[in-house]
Amino acid sequence: MFGKRSNDPQAPKRIAQPQAQPAPAMRPTESGKAASATPASAPPKPEPEAQPQRRHSEECYDVKTTVFNALIDTIDLTQLAKLDAAAAREEIRDIVSEIIQIKNVVMSIAEQEELLEDICNDVLGYGPLEPLLARDDIADIMVNGANTTYIEVNGKVQRTGVRFADNTQLMNICQRIVSQVGRRVDESSPICDARLPDGSRVNVIAPPLAIDGPALTIRKFKKDRLKLEQLVKFGSITPNAKTILEIIGRVRCNVLISGGTGSGKTTLLNCLTGSIDNDERIITCEDSAELQLQQPHVVRLETRPPNLEGEGEIKMRDLIKNCLRMRPERIIVGEVRGPEAFDLLQAMNTGHDGSMGTLHANSPREAIGRLESMIMMGGYTLPIRTIREMIVGSIDVIVQASRLRDGSRKITHITEVIGMEEDVVTLQNIVVFEILGEDANGKIVGRHRSTGISRPKFWDRAEYYNEEDRLAAALAGSEVVDANGNVLGEANG
Ligand SMILES: Nc1ncnc2c1ncn2[C@@H]1O[C@H](COP(=O)(O)OP(=O)(O)O)[C@@H](O)[C@H]1O
Ligand SMILES: [Mg+2]
Repeated sequence: MFGKRSNDPQAPKRIAQPQAQPAPAMRPTESGKAASATPASAPPKPEPEAQPQRRHSEECYDVKTTVFNALIDTIDLTQLAKLDAAAAREEIRDIVSEIIQIKNVVMSIAEQEELLEDICNDVLGYGPLEPLLARDDIADIMVNGANTTYIEVNGKVQRTGVRFADNTQLMNICQRIVSQVGRRVDESSPICDARLPDGSRVNVIAPPLAIDGPALTIRKFKKDRLKLEQLVKFGSITPNAKTILEIIGRVRCNVLISGGTGSGKTTLLNCLTGSIDNDERIITCEDSAELQLQQPHVVRLETRPPNLEGEGEIKMRDLIKNCLRMRPERIIVGEVRGPEAFDLLQAMNTGHDGSMGTLHANSPREAIGRLESMIMMGGYTLPIRTIREMIVGSIDVIVQASRLRDGSRKITHITEVIGMEEDVVTLQNIVVFEILGEDANGKIVGRHRSTGISRPKFWDRAEYYNEEDRLAAALAGSEVVDANGNVLGEANG
């Protein structure tokens, strides 16, 4: 026993943390209820239904409100927060059963269980988000205010029936999430990045910046990142292109992975690091540690946002600069967003071959442009030609990831940076994905083909690492694949 009912004077007092408190007496609307009960339920009409939605009578919600309010009156939430999840659940279970008895509520065992589950989610966890967080097939969760939640499954964004009682409940949940990493989100600091205990990345932007209520975005952490073999199985890439990527990773090309949001950049970066030899010293710099390197000799670094007083920020630039004093053999940068592009290029230029990073762009050509502007953002007054020469001298390969309109993710380009013609950086595609059309189910049909380049610029490197035969064979083959990634036959590059 604990809390208000407890008379244990020893019970340690938790530091008051109002933001960590659960939603005050939530108004269990139909939506809130449905949300907790049916994970993938769809909204009443407009979007396609993922799963049939259970209907709940008004009575049900009234019962929940009654029980919930009684519970909130009975327990001491700060004490509850001290217990581990299982114990807290037990505690709630006891009290809820008691309340049900006292209030003389007639409920079946199943109904009681469901009620208990909902209440536990509201009090202890992330409320209506819980069922979504529990699903492994979801890549992103996007909450746009209390009434609208979208998820991304298999590359497709779909609306769910998940709703919050109101924006206050949603805000409380946001607050609980960010308070776990020692931050808070409110009117005075309405933007906040955080992480869930499972490693999922979270962004919150609250009113008044978010006009229609708090916007919460969660990129769910995948315990097992996809491997290259799986990308082949999904048809994101062909077996030959996989081999080419493995060689590029192994022979220490400097690689930039380009792609849109959620196109699979981090996944691809993680795959590429898979071909790094075990005896190399690797240092990773990320805003939020996502990479899962398998090698033994890895140092992982993470940036830090400023604290509440606006102090103590450690930026990506700081990390990369520090990296250079750590005798790295490879530097892996999770995402290049700003002036740190300059530092990464410098590192690549100065003997840290095989460094890699991702960047947000829609084509290899655009990636070059983005790099240029990021370097200029850093306040360098270098002539554009100098910047381009620096890019050409640093980046060997750009790999482009894309999420196509049917939701499938493809590696659409493996492209080399080969030099300059006049003032223009010259690129050379090695493998490209061509869209041929759509099948009856709206699935994009296309094929990866090699462009017929038999001696890429990194050929010498491949030779040095004894990979030239494997490379030649992979370059020579160019399969045609159907939408499911099945190899249909050979095409002439
Ligand atoms: N080729 C792929 N096929 C299917 N799913 C993929 C593929 N690449 C990535 N994913 C999934 O897509 C989601 C987003 O991938 P991620 O690499 O984090 O994207 P980005 O870093 O570009 O934002 C993840 O859930 C990941 O597992
Ligand atoms: Mg990423």
